[in-house]
Amino acid sequence: MKPGAALVLGLETSCDETAVALLDGAGGARASRVSSQEEAHRRFGGVVPEIAARAHVENLPPLLDAALADAGATLLDVTAVAATAGPGLVGALLVGLSEGKGLALGLSVPFVPVNHIEGHALSPFLDGAGGPSTPVPETFTALVVSGGHTHVFRFERDGIVRLARTRDDAAGEAFDKVAKMAGLGYPGGPAVDRLARRGRAARPFPVPHFKDGAPDFSFSGLKTAARERLLELGRTPAPALPGGAPPLREEDAPQELCDLMADVEEAIVAQLLHRVSRLHGAGRFDVLTVSGGVAANTLVRERIPAWGRAHGVDVRLAPRALTGDNGVMIAFAGLRRLRSGRTGEGLGAVARSRWPLETLR
Ligand code: KG4
Ligand code: ZN
Repeated sequence: MKPGAALVLGLETSCDETAVALLDGAGGARASRVSSQEEAHRRFGGVVPEIAARAHVENLPPLLDAALADAGATLLDVTAVAATAGPGLVGALLVGLSEGKGLALGLSVPFVPVNHIEGHALSPFLDGAGGPSTPVPETFTALVVSGGHTHVFRFERDGIVRLARTRDDAAGEAFDKVAKMAGLGYPGGPAVDRLARRGRAARPFPVPHFKDGAPDFSFSGLKTAARERLLELGRTPAPALPGGAPPLREEDAPQELCDLMADVEEAIVAQLLHRVSRLHGAGRFDVLTVSGGVAANTLVRERIPAWGRAHGVDVRLAPRALTGDNGVMIAFAGLRRLRSGRTGEGLGAVARSRWPLETLR
């Protein structure tokens, strides 16, 4: 390590991924390690908070050692520590947050608590291969679509404004629930994506609207409509096999199920685009970032940039490698806050299950 060079340690433990990254002062990832707990939660069909917290306690120390080794660094090279403080599962968050505070205290370096959603929203400015980040514009709009969140925010010079939110399920949750009903296991987004590639969308689901005219999202109707279509196909939800294996092997999925998954994917992407278009109509934006687990979806990555090209909006997709939860985005959000002197509560930060991004300065 070059003496005096910035090296920000980022820790992420808000849900079922333990992640550690080291980011240099140019916004390039020097190391990024993610340990997924998918296996541990699979047989329950979703994330079990207590299991997640315990797994973070086990996974974090070896992951930190591995990340330091990858970067050819030691703890003494770390110049700042950033850790996710919310939103997320409190027991899970506490693991990374406490570790981060302890390390910052021990090393006498600054500590930055990071909002998980802000990390996702900024991830499209990162380079997936570890190159330097691109400059973050003073104002931009962010579509964050994950398993827990579906939001549109406007980042402004002196604050963050929420433009839309989901009123029920998140987009990723819709993918996951439909996949589960179809017998495809957890998490279902990637499986629906793969099946949709083999299918042809032919029977569109309606895009829901709110009576009050808000551009908010809603995906629970789609879940119900998809259940009916599954029943029409004579497919009843089957229980998982012992050990948590999904009851349906993807290669055995019949054509009509692939077609239905293509319809579901279309419906989710159509709604995302409908809301983004409406918001753009109400107050044009130049830059739109698209991030979160669902930003890995093939159709999302095709359609939203195509819409941007047609409407003069510079769409920035999160690099595929950084769509899911990771430590790089947390270190990056921390670095940005450190540089602007907006480190919030610092060591006084507490773990928050809810932490609306629009309350941040
Ligand atoms: O950002 P993330 O890793 O965790 C949260 O903060 O929620 O997002 C996970 C979500 C899951 O719902 C997963 O099914 C979805 O992202 N996802 C996808 C794809 N890859 C992951 N959804 C659709 N298509 C994909 N290729
Ligand atoms: Zn996330």
